[in-house]
Amino acid sequence: MRSIHPLNHQWHFSPEFREEYLEPTFSADELPEIQIPHTMTLTPFNHFDEKITQGIGTYFRDFSLGKEAVDHRIICRFYGVMNTCKVYVNGVCLGSHEGGYTPFEYDLTSVCLTDRQNRLLVIVDGAETANVPPFGGVVDYLSYSGIYREVELQILEQTHLQALYCKAADLTPWAEDSMVLSIQAPLVKAMDMTDLKCTMEVLDGDVCHYKSELKLTANDTFIGSFQLKEIKRWDIDDPKQYRIRVTLLLREICLDQIDEWFGFRSISFTSKGFYLNQRRVKLIGLDRHQSYPYVGYAMPRRMQEKDAEILRFDLGCRIVRTSHYMQSDHFIRRADEIGLLVLEEIPGWQYIGNEKFKALSLANLEAMIRHHYNHPSIVLWGVRINESPDDHDFYVETNQLAKKLDDSRPTTGIRNFRHSECLEDVYAYNDFSHIGDNAGLVHPNWIAGPKVPYLVTEHNGHIFPTKKTDPEMKQIEQALRHLKVIDAAYATNRHSGAIGWCLADYNTHKEFGSSDRVCYHGVTDMFRLPKPAAYVYASQREDVPVLEVASSNTPGEFDEIRLPEFVIFTNCDYVTIAFNGEKIGTYFPNRKRYPHLPHPPIILPDLIGNRLEASKTFSKRLTRQLLRALRAYYRDGIHMPIGEKIRIAWLMLFKGFTFDKAFHLIGRYIINWGKDLATYTIQGYRENQPVITKLIGRSGTRILKAFADDSVIAPKGTYEVTRIVIQLEDGLGNICRNAHDVINVTCENGLAVIGPNPVALVGGSIGVYLRTTGKKGRVSAIVTSGDCPPITLDFLIE
Ligand code: GAL
Repeated sequence: MRSIHPLNHQWHFSPEFREEYLEPTFSADELPEIQIPHTMTLTPFNHFDEKITQGIGTYFRDFSLGKEAVDHRIICRFYGVMNTCKVYVNGVCLGSHEGGYTPFEYDLTSVCLTDRQNRLLVIVDGAETANVPPFGGVVDYLSYSGIYREVELQILEQTHLQALYCKAADLTPWAEDSMVLSIQAPLVKAMDMTDLKCTMEVLDGDVCHYKSELKLTANDTFIGSFQLKEIKRWDIDDPKQYRIRVTLLLREICLDQIDEWFGFRSISFTSKGFYLNQRRVKLIGLDRHQSYPYVGYAMPRRMQEKDAEILRFDLGCRIVRTSHYMQSDHFIRRADEIGLLVLEEIPGWQYIGNEKFKALSLANLEAMIRHHYNHPSIVLWGVRINESPDDHDFYVETNQLAKKLDDSRPTTGIRNFRHSECLEDVYAYNDFSHIGDNAGLVHPNWIAGPKVPYLVTEHNGHIFPTKKTDPEMKQIEQALRHLKVIDAAYATNRHSGAIGWCLADYNTHKEFGSSDRVCYHGVTDMFRLPKPAAYVYASQREDVPVLEVASSNTPGEFDEIRLPEFVIFTNCDYVTIAFNGEKIGTYFPNRKRYPHLPHPPIILPDLIGNRLEASKTFSKRLTRQLLRALRAYYRDGIHMPIGEKIRIAWLMLFKGFTFDKAFHLIGRYIINWGKDLATYTIQGYRENQPVITKLIGRSGTRILKAFADDSVIAPKGTYEVTRIVIQLEDGLGNICRNAHDVINVTCENGLAVIGPNPVALVGGSIGVYLRTTGKKGRVSAIVTSGDCPPITLDFLIE
C-alpha cells in the first residue's frame, strides 16, 4: 500500500548557496529552522523593490526512512517551488525543475538509504529567468521565491498505480440521474506480473454506490466505462461529490489504492451561453492572484480555501479564473466542495518566448491537466499565454495536447484583441471598453464573430484603480462600473459571462500599479477586505439578504457639500428609508439603468422623499415649487440652471422665503449640515417581509471590533494560518472609513503574528495573519488599540 508523508517541518534554510553545502559532512543545524510553505523574503506591505522577491536560497531536510521503505519506491513530490530549483539527495543531483507553478516529483529510490539519515537539499533560485514562463517580457504581478507549496514523500510498492483519471459524460437521451463514468489508471510495473487485478468503487460517504472491475490494456493502463444510475449531479448550488476508489490487487493482496473526490456533471459552451447539467448558467466571477501581504505566495491550506469561500460565499461568484497560472490544490479542492467553477490557465503574461519557453509551456499545460483532471469545478483549460499574440503552430500544439490529455473539457485562451485565430473551443476576451458612461461591454460578434462561444475574462481593473482609502464617490464609481459590465453580460446569451479584474489588490513590478508597487484593481484590498465593488457581486446572490448602503450621506465627504446619488447594493425587493424615525419613502431597484441584472442597486437622486408633502407645512403648489428648488440644489448646488435660480428668487421675493428658512429646509431635507446628529434607517424587504436593516448617520461612538476567520485551527501536515479582521466601527455598525488607528496583536504561545505588529488601520480596517507555532490546545490573541477596550479572540488549535 502507498503511504504519504508530509515533509514540511524541520527544514533549515540559508538565504544563499555555497559549495560547502553540498559536502555530506555539512551540518545545517545552525541554520534557521523553517516550515514549508516558505517565502525567502517577508516583504513590506508596499513600497519595496521587487528584486527582494527574487532571491536565491538553499533548503536542507534530513530524513530517515523506516523499514516500510525497504524494497519500495520513494518519490519526493514538490507542489510548487518558485522559480527554478535543483534537487539533491545524499549529494546526488536528481535534476532541475524550471517554473514555479506546477507540481513535480523525483524518484529517490536509487539514492535513498533505509538504514540511515538522508539529506534532501534544494537550491532555489527566484530570479525571473527569461524563457521560463511567465518571464521574458514585463509581467504585471510578482512571483515570490521559495518552496511555497507543500512537499511530501510517497512510499509506493514497486508495482503501483501512477494516477487515477475519472470523467463523466451524459447519456443519450439525457437523464438527470444517470451518467457514464470512464476511468483510467495507468500502472507502473516492476516486472511482468500476471494475476494483477484492479477494482473501482464509487463511494457515497461510507456506502458503496457501485463497484466493478477495470480491464488492463496492452499499454499497462486499467480502464473501464460504466453506466451509473441514481447518481446525484455536482452543481454550483449543490456540489455533491462522491469518492472514486481504485484498488490494485495481486492475488487478493492489496498493492495500492487511490481515492479521489469526484463530481458527476456535464458542461458545454455554446454560442448561446454556458450550460451546466443542461441548464444555462451565466458565468459571473472574478480573477484571482494567489499572493498575500508579506508572505507572497507562501500561504498554507486554510488561507487558500478561504479565498474560494470569499469568492463563492461572500461575493456570490460562480466562477473564478486562476489568473495567470495553475493554483493551489487546496483552493481548487475547496472550489469543488462549495460549487465555485474554475477557469485554470498556464503561466504567462503577454509574452511568448523561444522554443524553450514553448516547451516549458507545454510541460506546464500537461502538469496542470494531469494534476487537476478530476476536479469537477474546472470547466475550462486556458491553453494560451494571457493576452499573447497569435502563434499558429504553438497554439495548435497546446490545443492538441489539451485534447489528447482531456477530451472532456473545452479549451480557451485569453486575448486582448479581436479576430484572433481561435483554435480553442471558447473565445475569451479581456474587455476593458467600459469607461463609465458607455456600454458595459462590446458585442461578442464584433470581437469574435457570431459563432464561437464567448467569455469575457477581465474587465475594469487598470481602467479604474480604486483604493479602500479613496473618496466615497470614487469607490462607488468603481462598483457601478462593475455593475454596468455585469448587466451587459446578462443582456445577451452570446455572453457566457464576465469575469472581473480582480478579487484583491496585489503587489506588482515597477512597470505597473501605483508608485507603491500595488495594483489597486481588486474589489477587495490585499487582505480581501471589501470595497463597495465587492457588494456588487454579493448583492447578486439569492440565498441570503444583502443590503449594503454604499453612500454615507455625510456632506463633508463631498466638494461644496453637494451630495451625490444615494446608492444601495441589495438583493431585496425594495427598501424603506426613514430619517430620525420619520419615513422618507419606499424605493425599488433601478431596473431602468440596469435592466438585465438579477438584482439592480437602488439608486436615489436624493433623500428628500415624501417628507415635505407629508408635513403639510405648505400648500400643495408651494410644496411642489419648493421640492423642485430643493432637488435642483441637491443635484447642482449653487451651479443649478438659471431657471431654477429664478424659481428660488421668486420664492424668496414673493413667498417670504428668507435665507434662514431656505437654509433650514436644505438642512432638514438634504444635507443635514449644521444640524443635530441624523440617523437614516434603511430596511430591506423580501416578499413584503422585513429581512435586513442598516443604519447610517453621524454617530459619535467608536467601537473596536475583531473577528477571526476560524476559531478552530486544524493544521494538517504543516503549520496553519488564520486571518483576523480588525475594524473600527461607529455606533451604528458601519466601518469608520477615515480611521487609521494603530492596532497591536498579542498572541499566547501557540500563535504568532505574520508581518509587522503593530499595524495601522487602512480606511478603517485591516487584516492580520496568525500562524500556528506547533503548540496544540486553547490559545488566545488579544487585540488592542489606544484606549478601546481590548478584544480577546479564542482559538482551539487541534
Ligand atoms: C490585463 C492583464 C492583467 C492585469 C490587468 C490590469 O491586461 O491581463 O494581468 O494586468 O490587465 O487591469
